[in-house]
Amino acid sequence: MLNRNPRQRVFLCDIWYSKIAMEEELINIKNTALSFILEAQDRKSLEETKLQFLGRSGKLTLALKQLPKLPIEKRAAVGELANEIKRTIEEALAEKLSQVTSDSTTKRKESIDRTVPTVEPRIGHIHPISQVLSQTIEIFKSLGFQVADGPEIESDHYNFEVLNIPKYHPSRDTQQTLFLDSTGTSYSPGEMLLRTQTSNMQGRIMEKTKPPFRVLVPGKVFRYEQVDASHGFEFWQVEGFMVDKNVSMSHLFGTLDYFFKQFFGQSTKVKFVCHNFPFVEPGVEAYISCVVCRGKGCSFCKRTGWVEILGAGMIHPNVLKAVGINPNEWSGFAFGTGLSRMATLKFEMDDLRLLTTPDLRILEQF
Ligand code: PHE
Repeated sequence: MLNRNPRQRVFLCDIWYSKIAMEEELINIKNTALSFILEAQDRKSLEETKLQFLGRSGKLTLALKQLPKLPIEKRAAVGELANEIKRTIEEALAEKLSQVTSDSTTKRKESIDRTVPTVEPRIGHIHPISQVLSQTIEIFKSLGFQVADGPEIESDHYNFEVLNIPKYHPSRDTQQTLFLDSTGTSYSPGEMLLRTQTSNMQGRIMEKTKPPFRVLVPGKVFRYEQVDASHGFEFWQVEGFMVDKNVSMSHLFGTLDYFFKQFFGQSTKVKFVCHNFPFVEPGVEAYISCVVCRGKGCSFCKRTGWVEILGAGMIHPNVLKAVGINPNEWSGFAFGTGLSRMATLKFEMDDLRLLTTPDLRILEQF
C-alpha cells in the first residue's frame, strides 16, 4: 500500500495519520463528553455540555468537518464511528436530563414541609377613629358640606378672640388651655397655644370665604385634663358650620337629627338642651338616647338613658361681624362634636384611652 514516491508517502502518511488521529480524537471526544455528562448536576450544565460537543462549533461537529480530508474509502467507516458517538452522547444527555429534572422536583417537594405550623399573616384594618371620621364625612358631604383642615398650633385670636371669648372671659376656664412657651420668639406670652376646639377654624374660614358655605372640620384638639376613662389631653372633634340666607334653629336641629340617625341608627332619639357658648346665640347641647341600653338607663349613661354628644347653636352676630359678614343679611349655625366620644359610643368602649393605645390586641376588636 505504501507508495515509494517520497512526496506521495508523505501524503499517504498524512492521511494515515489523519485517520488514526481522527478515530482517536473522536473517541477522546466521546469519553470527555460522557464524563462531563456524568458529573453534570443540573439542566444548565447539560445544555452547556451539549453545546460544547454537539453545537455548531462543538468539538464533535468540528471534527466531522475534517471528514472530507480523509481518503474516500475511509470516510464511511470514520463517518459511521462519528455518528455512533453522536448518538451515544445524545442518549447519555437525554438520560441524565430526565434524571436531574426528576431529582429537582423531588427536592422541591421535600423542601416544603406542610406539617410546620404557620404564622398567620397580620391583616390590618382601619382604626376606629378613622372609621368614624370617614362615616361622618360621608354623611355631611351628602348634605353639601365641604371638608377643611387647619392648624393644631393656634393663636389666642382664632381659638378665643374671634369667637367672642375675650381675655378673662370665664368660659376660657373650661377649656384647660395648653399654652406654648414663647421665650425667644416674637410672640408674646400666652399668644400661642394648642387649639382647645376645632371652632378655631370658624374664624379662619369665614374671614376668607364669602357666604353661602357649608364646612366640616375634623381635627385633634388638646386640653390640660387629668387623663381617665372619659377624659384625654388630646382628642378628636368635628366642627361643622353653615352660613346662608335665613338659616334658623330648625335647620340646625334637622341637620343634627338626620346625622345622628344616619350614624347611630334610625331608632336613635335626639334632644336639645339650652347651653351657653359665647360664640353661639342661642346655644344648645345635644343628647342622644343611650346606644347601650337604648334609653332604658344603664351604667354607661349613668341611668339617665341619654348621653351628651355635642355643643351647637346659631352663630353669634359678634362672630359674623368679626369676620366681615353682615349679620343682618346672613345667618348660620355651628356645632362641635367629640369624634372620640362618638367612636366610644359607636363601639361601646368603656374607656377613651383605648382609642390611643398602640395595643393591636385591643384595636383589632373594632
Ligand atoms: N367648641 C365647643 C366645645 O369644644 C363646641 C361647640 C362648637 C359649641 C360649635 C357650639 C358651636 O365644647
